[in-house]
Amino acid sequence: MDTVLVTGGTGHLGRDLVRLLKPAHRVRVLSRSRGDDPDVEWVRGDLATGAGVAEAVAGVRTVVHAATRSPAARRGYLLPTDFVRTPPDVDVHGTRRLLDEAARAGVGHFAYVSVVGADRPRLPYLRVKREAERLVRAGGVPWSVLRATQFHWLADRMLSGAARLPVLPVPADLDVQPVDSADFAGYVADRVVAGPGGRCDDFGGPDVLSFGALVAQWQRFRARSARTVRLPVPARAARAARGLTCPWGHRGTTTWSAWLQANPPR
Ligand SMILES: NC(=O)c1ccc[n+]([C@@H]2O[C@H](COP(=O)([O-])OP(=O)(O)OC[C@H]3O[C@@H](n4cnc5c(N)ncnc54)[C@H](OP(=O)(O)O)[C@@H]3O)[C@@H](O)[C@H]2O)c1
Repeated sequence: MDTVLVTGGTGHLGRDLVRLLKPAHRVRVLSRSRGDDPDVEWVRGDLATGAGVAEAVAGVRTVVHAATRSPAARRGYLLPTDFVRTPPDVDVHGTRRLLDEAARAGVGHFAYVSVVGADRPRLPYLRVKREAERLVRAGGVPWSVLRATQFHWLADRMLSGAARLPVLPVPADLDVQPVDSADFAGYVADRVVAGPGGRCDDFGGPDVLSFGALVAQWQRFRARSARTVRLPVPARAARAARGLTCPWGHRGTTTWSAWLQANPPR
C-alpha cells in the first residue's frame, strides 16, 4: 500500500477525503491537533512554522495539500480587512515549505486543492491561492491542481452570519455554483489514483444559481424569514463573479437544497 499524506485532513474536505482514501491507501494526516482515528497516521505539525513537515512527507508517494487558513471562513462573515489582506503563512509560506520537503523526500505527486477563480483573483484569499498554485507548478514535484467552487458548508456559515444583520443583503446579478465538499472529495480521491494531471478540470456544484435563489432556499430550509435587500453590483464585479462558477467543469450531484436538508444547524 502506498502512503498518501493529506494536509487539512481534519477539515471539511479533508475528513471526507481521508474516509475515501483509507480502504486503498495508508493515510497520514499532518495537523496541529491529533485526531482520534486509529486507522490514520497522525503527524502533529504546523505549516505556518514548518514543524513536523519533514516527518510528514517521509516515505510518502502522494501529497494532497488541502490545508488552508481563511479567517473569514472561520468567523463566518466578511470584514472590510478581508478585501485588503489575508494571512499568507499557511497557504503561501506553508505550501513552499511542504513542496521543498516533498521534493527532498522524492514525493511522486503533489495534488494542490485550489479555488475556481484563482486565475483572475479579486480577493486577497484568491490571490494567495494563485500564488500557491504558481509555487506548485514550479516546485519540481509532479503535480495536479484541483479547483472547486464554494463549498455548501461555507455558504451556509456565511449566510448564518449575514442573517444576523437587520436586513440580509442579496447581491443582484450574481451567480454562484456551490458544491458539496464530499462530492469534491470523490473527485480528489480519483485524481490521487490517476496520478499527476497538471491543471485538472474544475469541479462545481450541480446547479448555477442566482444569489437570490441561494438565499431563498437557505431561508426555506433554515426556517428563516429575514428581510432581504437587493444590492446592486457594478457590472465589472458581476463579470468577475462569473469567473467563480464553472458550468462546463465536472459537477457534483448534491444540490444546495438537498445539502441543507441533510445538514440541519447544530
Ligand atoms: N471552503 C470552500 O468554500 C472552498 C472552496 C473551494 C476550495 N476550497 C479549498 O479546499 C481546501 C479545504 O478547504 P476546507 O473548507 O475543507 O477547509 P477547512 O474546513 O477550513 O479546514 C482547514 C484545514 O486546514 C488545516 N490547517 C489550518 N492551519 C494549519 C496549519 N497552520 N498547519 C497545518 N494545517 C492547518 C486545519 O487543520 P488543524 O486545524 O487540525 O490544524 C484544517 O484541517 C482548501 O485548500 C480551500 O482553499 C475551499
